[in-house]
Amino acid sequence: MTKIAIINGPNLNLLGKREPELYGNKDFDAYFLQLQSHFIDFCLTHYQSNVEGELINEIQRVGFDVDGIILNAAAYTHTSVGIGDAIKAIAAPVIEVHISNTFSREDFRHTSFITPNAKGLILGFGLDAYRLAIESFLPKL
Ligand code: DQA
Repeated sequence: MTKIAIINGPNLNLLGKREPELYGNKDFDAYFLQLQSHFIDFCLTHYQSNVEGELINEIQRVGFDVDGIILNAAAYTHTSVGIGDAIKAIAAPVIEVHISNTFSREDFRHTSFITPNAKGLILGFGLDAYRLAIESFLPKL
């Protein structure tokens, strides 16, 4: 079974309550259950933290075990050299996702310490970004 770890950064525990016009009305736990029942051939896990070092610990913990990581580092995307370095250090490919289109927002959201070390980037499709990212691990046409 393909093992995929979803790792979410700061404030994503508030999905459903937080700025719903930008991030939608659904909380991530409910969405994660939908992902699990849709992708029955995948072993999916979900970890969320508001703490930068904890996210680095989790990336290191799963990074030599899983087949891929889907990472929404949220605000740390734009600031964290440490998370960027952690992605470079591990074996698993990382798909960077964002719920919103960060390039249509403030200038400081146009910088990412994740993208240079990620396999790919999906943004602007709402929560569906996570489904699209998992699909990138399916066999190619
Ligand atoms: C986000 C975009 C980031 O700029 C922001 O800080 C977030 C969420 C997104 O998923 O659209 O917290 O990563």
